[in-house]
Amino acid sequence: YHVPQAINEPIQGYAPGSAERAEVQAAYDKMWNETLNIPMVINGKRIETGKTMRVLPPHDHQHNVGSFHFGEAKHVHEAIQASLDAKEAWENMSWANRSAIFLKAADLVAGPYRARINAATMIQQSKTIFQAEIDSACELADFLRFNVQYATEIYAEQPYTHSHSGLWNRVDYRPLEGFTFAITPFNFTAIAGNLPTSMAMMGNTVVWKPSLSQLYSAHLLMEIFEEAGIPPGVINMIITDPQETADIVFGHPDFAGLHYTGSTTVFQNIWKTIGNNITKYRTYPRIVGETGGKDFVMVHRTAKVQQVVTALIRGAFEFQGQKCSAASRAYIPSNLWQAVKTGLVNTMAELNMGSPRDFENFITAVIHEGAFDKLAKYIDQAKADSNAEIIAGGNYDKSKGYFIEPTVIVASDPKYVTMEEELFGPVLTIYVYPEDQYEETLKLVDETSPYALTGALFSEDRYALEVGERALRNAAGNFYINDKPTGAVVGQQPFGGARASGTNDKAGSKQNLYRWVSPRLIKETL
Ligand code: SER
Repeated sequence: YHVPQAINEPIQGYAPGSAERAEVQAAYDKMWNETLNIPMVINGKRIETGKTMRVLPPHDHQHNVGSFHFGEAKHVHEAIQASLDAKEAWENMSWANRSAIFLKAADLVAGPYRARINAATMIQQSKTIFQAEIDSACELADFLRFNVQYATEIYAEQPYTHSHSGLWNRVDYRPLEGFTFAITPFNFTAIAGNLPTSMAMMGNTVVWKPSLSQLYSAHLLMEIFEEAGIPPGVINMIITDPQETADIVFGHPDFAGLHYTGSTTVFQNIWKTIGNNITKYRTYPRIVGETGGKDFVMVHRTAKVQQVVTALIRGAFEFQGQKCSAASRAYIPSNLWQAVKTGLVNTMAELNMGSPRDFENFITAVIHEGAFDKLAKYIDQAKADSNAEIIAGGNYDKSKGYFIEPTVIVASDPKYVTMEEELFGPVLTIYVYPEDQYEETLKLVDETSPYALTGALFSEDRYALEVGERALRNAAGNFYINDKPTGAVVGQQPFGGARASGTNDKAGSKQNLYRWVSPRLIKETL
C-alpha cells in the first residue's frame, strides 16, 4: 500500500524585522490587553458556570489576561454522556473523512492560528517565542500529520490475508468500547493537543481535562478542533476538581482508556484507583502514561567540551527546565571539568531572563508559585549544604513573576538530593567523577534515579559509546548520543520512557495509536 509521508512543519526564525515576528507580537499584545473568557466545552456547547478564576501570566502575576469557568460533578457526567452519545456516528465515519479533519486541524495550527497559539503559549505558559514555536506550532502540527500517516498505515493492514482460496482473514481495528479520558500537562501545548486527538483519530470519543496552567492555549485548541470539523461531543473539555473528576471517570463502567502526561505520583494513584474499580468496567481499560524524569548527561573523557556545554545549557535551561526531558544531572570527567565549568559560567553570564515578550530573553518565569517555592527551597538547601556548591545562578525573585535564575549545583556526593529528585525547573546538578572511572560511573547513572525518560552520552570514542549504550540500555527511553536530551521531533524521535517515567507508548508513533484500538479478527469462509 502507498501512504503519503508526512513532513515536519518548518520552524520559523522570527528574526528582527520579519513578518512573523511582527505578527506574533501583535497577537501577544492584543491578548495581553484583553480579558479572555474561557468556558468548558461539552457537546460543542460553551459552558459558563460563573464560578471563575483568573488567568495570571507566570512572568507578570498581577496582570489579569482572562478567567476560566470552573465546573462541578454534573459537568463531568455531562461530558461522559456527550462522549458516549457522539461515539456511534464518529466511529462509523470513514477514515477518509476523519483524517481530513485532523489534517485540516494541522493546517489551521500551522497557518491562520499560528501567531495566536504561539502567543497564548507565551502568555500563560511563559515560553519564549522559540520554545512556543517548536511546541505549539511545529510539534502540534507534526503530531496531527504524522498520526494521520500512521493511522492510515494501520488501517491499510485490514483486510490482511487471503491465505488460500476459500478463506479470508481480516482485522477490524475497532475503537475502544466506551469513552476515553485525557489528562494533559501545562508544559507542552503540543502534548495537550496530541493526547485527545490521537485517541479521537482512532474513532474514540474523549473527555479531556487540561492543566489549569495551560487553559489559554487549550481554549484555542478547542476552537481549532471545532473549525476543523471535529463533531460536537467527540472531544469535550472540562475544567473541574481533579479528585472529584477521578472518582466519577474511573468509577464509570464505560471508562475504556486513559491517555496521561503528568506527575508520577498522580499516575500511580490513578492506576491504583483503576485497579480497585476493575470489576466495574465493561472492558479492561487501556492505560498510557508519560510521567517524570531525572534525565542525565553522561560525559566520557573524549567528549568535545563545547558540545557538552551547549547541550547542558540548552538541555537544562530552555523553557526553564520544565520539560520532562530536561537535563537535570550531569556526570563530567575530571579531565574536562575546568573547561566545562568555564564554558558554563561564561555562557550563563550572558543569558537574559525576563518576559517572553522581549525576544532577547532566553529564560522566563517558572509556571507558578508552588514551583517557585519548591525550587527556591532546594537552592537554599544547596547553599547551606557542605557537600554542594552553587557555581552559577542561585538567585530568585517572585516580586513580579516567578523568576528563578538558571542554577548549577556541583555535588561532591553523587547521590546528593538534587542528583536524585525531579525538580522540574532550571537547576542542573553536576557530579565530577575521576576520569578513569567511566564504567563505575555508568553504573551510578543507571542506579541513581527511578526514572528512565531521556539521557545523553557524549564521547568521541566508539568503544566508550558502545559500552555506555549497553550499560544505560534501560536508563532512558530516548537516548541521545552527542546531543542534548530534549527536543524530540515527531516522525524522527518518537518520545517516551519506561521505569517510573511511564508506559513508554511513544508519543507520535504507530505503537501509541495501536493502544487506542481493540482489534477484532474476522475469519470468513468464502
Ligand atoms: N518531547 C519533549 C522533548 O523531547 C518533552 O516532552 O523535549
